[in-house]
Amino acid sequence: METKILPVLDAAAISEAAALLQAGQVVAMPTETVYGLAADATNSAAVRRIFEAKGRPGDNPLIVHICNMDMLEGVAREAPAEARKLAEVFWPGPLTMVLPKARGLAAEVSAGLDTVGVRLPAHEGARVLIEAAGVPLAAPSANCSGSPSPTTAAHVLADMKGKIPLVLDGGACPVGVESTVLSLVGEPVVLRPGFVTVEEISEALGRPVKLHEAITAPLLQGQAAQSPGMKYKHYAPKARVTIVESGFEDFCAYVNKRAAEGVWALCFESEQGALEVPCILYGKENDDAAQAAKLFGALRQMDEVGAKTVYARSPHQRGVGLAVYNRLLRAAAFRVEKL
Ligand code: TXA
Ligand code: MG
Repeated sequence: METKILPVLDAAAISEAAALLQAGQVVAMPTETVYGLAADATNSAAVRRIFEAKGRPGDNPLIVHICNMDMLEGVAREAPAEARKLAEVFWPGPLTMVLPKARGLAAEVSAGLDTVGVRLPAHEGARVLIEAAGVPLAAPSANCSGSPSPTTAAHVLADMKGKIPLVLDGGACPVGVESTVLSLVGEPVVLRPGFVTVEEISEALGRPVKLHEAITAPLLQGQAAQSPGMKYKHYAPKARVTIVESGFEDFCAYVNKRAAEGVWALCFESEQGALEVPCILYGKENDDAAQAAKLFGALRQMDEVGAKTVYARSPHQRGVGLAVYNRLLRAAAFRVEKL
């Protein structure tokens, strides 16, 4: 199959994409977080094509994207008062809420669960596309299962060329890490940290909201995953990545001692002068939004340069930094060296 790329904010491109979606095909679309692999969430055959293109395990549910609050009814059977409150504060935007699932959706979307993850994206191109398709769109990140999520159309092509008919190009995704996933079935709990922080959610609800422990630790053997995505290998570059938690001077000493062919550092902007290994950069120290925007591109770069071993500077674990740390920790298969 030939894979076309068209600019997203173009009326002809949107019509073409909407026609493909209505015919049960899969189209890659930009969102403010990462690119998504979209299909009609009410069409089982279309949703199965997403799983095929990604090589995604069938028991890992997809997020459903809507373009206005009227569409929520066809996706979620009920939306508790707290969900409505959060929608007012954070939608359109990078927050996914897990709610009881409505009947009209394809069963494959939520992998047989009785719940569904739903979000109203802030990206204008995504919203215009959903509106034109006229149906809610199921869309996981547009990468092959296990790879870093794509934040540019070129990343999408690298994984999806020949597998889908169309990529809508909206340039680089401004947020750069996937949406915050918050379960509102039972006690509110953050299942995946993102740009909307647990601090902000707690403030909006007027009560503290929990973080799932799998955010910063591997699931124990036999432990049930509240979010199926927690079980799977994620964001894994070919290189063996280790997070080094320390001050900058100790980091440099640690890495410089290990300088060798194939050894790289993942560090913050303007730190490379002190390192005796080549560096990949991901934003400034303490600027967690910039780190989020750059991280997935940096993980892909590790493969492009053929890095074998990478020592990574650690982001802090507050606010958006927790989302960055959570992704990097998975890229490092939970290897952390505390100095
Ligand atoms: O920012 C994003 O959320 C992007 C863009 C495209 O919107 N999408 C995305 O989708 O990251 P995906 O499929 O890569 O990640 C969805 C995550 C998975 O970890 C999945 O297990 C979890 O959300 N999830 C989806 N539905 C769920 C449900 N009903 N209950 C618990 N977890 C759910
Ligand atoms: Mg994903």
